[in-house]
Amino acid sequence: MYNYTAEQLASMKKVEATRAERCKKLKERMTADEKQQVLRENHPDYITTAYENLKVGPNKGDKVLHELAELLQGKSRLTGKKLDLTKPDFDVDVLVIGGGGAGSSAAIEADNAGAKVMMVTKLRIGDANTMMAEGGIQAADKPNDSPAIHYLDAFGGGHFAAKHELLYKLVNEAPDAIRWLNELGVMFDKMPDGTMVTTHGGGTSRKRMHACKDYSGAEIMRTLRDEVFNRGIPVVDFTAAIELIKDTDGKVAGAVLMNMETKDILIAKAKVVIIATGGAGRLHYQGFPTSNHYGATADGLVLGYRAGAKLLYADTLQYHPTGAAEPTQIFGALVTEKVRSLGAQLVNCDGEPFVYSLETRDVTASSIIRECKKRNKGIKTTDGVGVWLDTPQIEILGGEGTIEKRIPAMMRMFGKYGIDIRKEPILVYPTLHYQNGGLDISADGMSTTVENLYVAGEAVGGIHGRNRLMGNSLLDIIVFGRNAGKSAGEKYKSVEVKELTLSHVDAFNAELKEAGIETEVLSPKLLPNYTKHPAI
Ligand code: FUM
Repeated sequence: MYNYTAEQLASMKKVEATRAERCKKLKERMTADEKQQVLRENHPDYITTAYENLKVGPNKGDKVLHELAELLQGKSRLTGKKLDLTKPDFDVDVLVIGGGGAGSSAAIEADNAGAKVMMVTKLRIGDANTMMAEGGIQAADKPNDSPAIHYLDAFGGGHFAAKHELLYKLVNEAPDAIRWLNELGVMFDKMPDGTMVTTHGGGTSRKRMHACKDYSGAEIMRTLRDEVFNRGIPVVDFTAAIELIKDTDGKVAGAVLMNMETKDILIAKAKVVIIATGGAGRLHYQGFPTSNHYGATADGLVLGYRAGAKLLYADTLQYHPTGAAEPTQIFGALVTEKVRSLGAQLVNCDGEPFVYSLETRDVTASSIIRECKKRNKGIKTTDGVGVWLDTPQIEILGGEGTIEKRIPAMMRMFGKYGIDIRKEPILVYPTLHYQNGGLDISADGMSTTVENLYVAGEAVGGIHGRNRLMGNSLLDIIVFGRNAGKSAGEKYKSVEVKELTLSHVDAFNAELKEAGIETEVLSPKLLPNYTKHPAI
């Protein structure tokens, strides 16, 4: 057994004592007013001191977190370098920046359209948040469901802020995304008759979460990566994009690349560029741990912003309610929402439930923070504080063997440290999970302000509004990845690239100077602060 403290063990006893009763009766849901109150008083998005207003760029005057402001207004990695743009190292139709699910889906569709495609990624293809996704992917493809109901769930969950044309596309193209993945070879959980198994997520009114146990993202990424390789699409690994290149008409026309090992600079010319660089968890906003992969440092937002691409909702982040709070070795790692979908409740140090377990993520995370910080009902952990997630309830409600069958990754992750989640509850606390905001796009995937720049996946803002529901991110990387690939695969045919230029970088630097910003912070960041790598 894990070496719990005496205090933790005493609290665990209280959780056991209330379990049978709690299994009979769920905690009631909050009213709309109660939700607003718990958000306002506890959600990290409402901590005004964590924010500052941007002084330059297309979103000048808008508030963003300090960590992001520092990078958006950072120093170009090209400062002091003279580059010859006339002899590019690569010349392609479609350049995809990013090696996750969105980038791979985009590359596959652009390849389908006949484009000469190249993917470039600062790590390796598949080193991405897609790979880390656990719980599932939403799609309204059951008889009791519809894209309209999916729309209403997501629109409400996102505080009625989603961009209509993006959310409309997301929900309407969801069933086809599942079909596409299934045909590519993703091994979804199915009933003996072949029907997909679906469950609820927080804020869903229908069971529409399709999953591959709790390895959903890894299975999807495995399949997409195989497809990219099988098609022979070139993938340039360990090579980061450090600036976009434009042509003299002001349209995006490639990227400056940097080899992560040697720091050698390469020039990629392209008729169109797709940014699919993912999220920003590794910026550890407001000191939070993260569920994100190592490369999640908001690079696409920086590249796009310097080239004039507008951001939407860059001030709003998602803190997943259940990051692992103990043991310290997995601090912040994702404990999938599916654990709660299968019946595990959140309870405080006295074994009392304090929130309906499948409220939307922002409300649930805020309730946990309130329980720990305001009501003093948390449990002390090695790295801070947490609440219990009562996993043994799953076996009581769903029958013996449910955990091993439905969430084997969770069982394994905690099992390594002597915690048997079938028998003992686990300690959790919110972890930085998702960037709700990002680059503003139109329904065809192109930036609203920069021509020939497409964006897909977590680097996009506005699809989900100000909070995202579980399973809509794996969905958006597929829907908007494919969408960007198809659009770019058409667009490149009519593009004539003029002379390449980096004058927009000079102009941005001039704006920084005029605003009095002198900084040595290089951006894009590429790797987290604690990286010990000579090239960074
Ligand atoms: O909880 C989870 O499995 C996460 C899913 C998501 O962010 O969509």
